[in-house]
Amino acid sequence: MILRLSVAIDGPAGAGKSTIAKLLAKDFNLMYINTGAMYRAVTLMALSTNVSSEDIDGLCDLIDKMDMYFNKDRLILNNEDVEEKITSPEISKKVSEFAALPEVRKKLVKLQQNMSKQYDVIMDGRDIGTVVLKEAPFKFFLTASPEERANRRYKELVNKGLKVEYEDILKDIINRDYLDSNRKTDPLRKAEDAIEIDTTGLNIDGVVNKISEHIKSSLVSGAK
Ligand code: DC
Repeated sequence: MILRLSVAIDGPAGAGKSTIAKLLAKDFNLMYINTGAMYRAVTLMALSTNVSSEDIDGLCDLIDKMDMYFNKDRLILNNEDVEEKITSPEISKKVSEFAALPEVRKKLVKLQQNMSKQYDVIMDGRDIGTVVLKEAPFKFFLTASPEERANRRYKELVNKGLKVEYEDILKDIINRDYLDSNRKTDPLRKAEDAIEIDTTGLNIDGVVNKISEHIKSSLVSGAK
C-alpha cells in the first residue's frame, strides 16, 4: 500500500482556506482539491437542468453523469472550465441547500476519498478533517470574523469586475455559516485533532508559514 500525504483544511466561508491551500499545494507538491467547488458544480448542474433539491433521484443521476477534475486549481466539469460560473453570487446563495442533502454528500465524499487514494492531496471544505480525511495526519481549522470574511469576498468579487454590495455578502456569509453549521449531516465543525488558526488580521504569508512550519517539523520528527 502506498502511504499518501494528506492535509485537511476546514473552516467557514471566506476564512482564506482556498488561497492558503493553493500556496501550500505548491510548496509541498500536493494536488489541491477544492471540495466546495464540487458542491457548487452540483448546484450549477441542478439549476441549469431544473432539477430541484427535493428530487433526490434526479440529483443522484445528475452527479453520476458529472465528470469532475481539477486542472491548475480550476474545476473542469464535463470538459468545461466552470470556475467563473460556480463562484457567481447566484450559486453562492443556493449551494448550502444542495450541500445539506445526505445523498449528495455521500456521493461527493466518495469521489473526494477516491482522489485522496490516487494523489497526495490538500483538501479544503467543511467536513474534511471530520469525515472525508478522518485519518489525515495534518488538519487545520481556519476562522476569521464574519466582517473580515465578507470584506475578503467583496474585494475578490469586485476584482473580478462584479457589481456587488458588501452588506449582501455579509448577510450571505452569516446565513451560510448558520446553514453549514446546523445541518444534520456532517456539519461544519473543528475536528478534535485539528489545529485552529484565527486568521483575522493575519496576512496570507503569516498563515501559510505557520502551517508549513508545523507540517515540516512533524515530517522531520516522524522521519527520525
Ligand atoms: O468553500 P465554499 O464557500 O466554496 O463552499 C460552498 C458551499 O459548499 C458551502 O456553503 C458549504 C458547502 N461545503 C460543504 O458542505 N462541504 C464541503 N466539504 C465543502 C463545501
